[in-house]
Amino acid sequence: MKNLYGVIGDPIAHSMSPAMHNDAFLSLGMDAHYQPFLIKREDLPVAIPGMKAIGISGFNVTVPHKTAIMPLLDEVDPLASAIGAVNTVVHENGKLIGYNTDGAGFIRGLHEEYGQPILDKRILIIGAGGAARAIYFTLGQQGAEYVDIANRTLDNAEQLKARCPYPVETFIFTLEEAEEKLADYDVIIQTTSIGMSPKMEESPLQLHNIRPDAFLSDIIYNPAETAIMKEAKKRGANVQNGLRMFAYQGALAFEKWTGILADPDRMEKIVLDKLG
Ligand code: ATR
Repeated sequence: MKNLYGVIGDPIAHSMSPAMHNDAFLSLGMDAHYQPFLIKREDLPVAIPGMKAIGISGFNVTVPHKTAIMPLLDEVDPLASAIGAVNTVVHENGKLIGYNTDGAGFIRGLHEEYGQPILDKRILIIGAGGAARAIYFTLGQQGAEYVDIANRTLDNAEQLKARCPYPVETFIFTLEEAEEKLADYDVIIQTTSIGMSPKMEESPLQLHNIRPDAFLSDIIYNPAETAIMKEAKKRGANVQNGLRMFAYQGALAFEKWTGILADPDRMEKIVLDKLG
């Protein structure tokens, strides 16, 4: 029997993951198939034992199940547990084990395009939601030294810092304060939804103090260039969008299932083709 993999979510029809993973299986000559599964929120408690019963080898998890799935799994890796979200499940020795590859995918992609080690750099994260949590905690787990957080609601950023199980030196700022201090940072990570439709022209903060040798990474990849990326480029900084992160979270999930790191360039190209 072919090894079966998949992704669960609602909606799921537009997920890029089946094309990315099926291409990886094909290019590596592996006899496997990756299938999207539309699972409604209320069906999750029966769907998960069902995935186990049909003998699925592994699957990705997307909106709205990333947190709700956790108590339904046999084990959750400590980093995913701290983040409070699972995006990858491995079926191993009769157990479903949950992981989170979003933060690690982001850091791999950032490291590659930044071109030098980032863990000793001065990093600013803009935003304090779910995406920021995955990135901040994974930076902490990997040993980042200075990671500050700027957010509209200070309390959300304070909670993010308080819940991080890894030692990181972190100061919390309002968006206005961060604008003034921006020259302190080597790497700036934009994690809010500002810049996506319908807020395409908006930017979470102004960049008049960004250094021309700074690097700005926006986790948004559609549009390919957000207003804050354009502004950073105008001021001489290097930028990247979220495509690399998305490709790498997939490549790392693939590695958890098969032991082989899928080619992120191929995965990235498939997403670009699909975006048109
Ligand atoms: P995700 O899980 O995708 O990261 P989220 O949890 O809804 O999304 O987090 C959204 C982030 O974007 C938060 O940091 C939020 O700021 P608050 O904590 O103040 O809510 C930020 N955000 C969303 N809309 C914003 C806006 N119009 N201005 C400033 N920040 C905004």
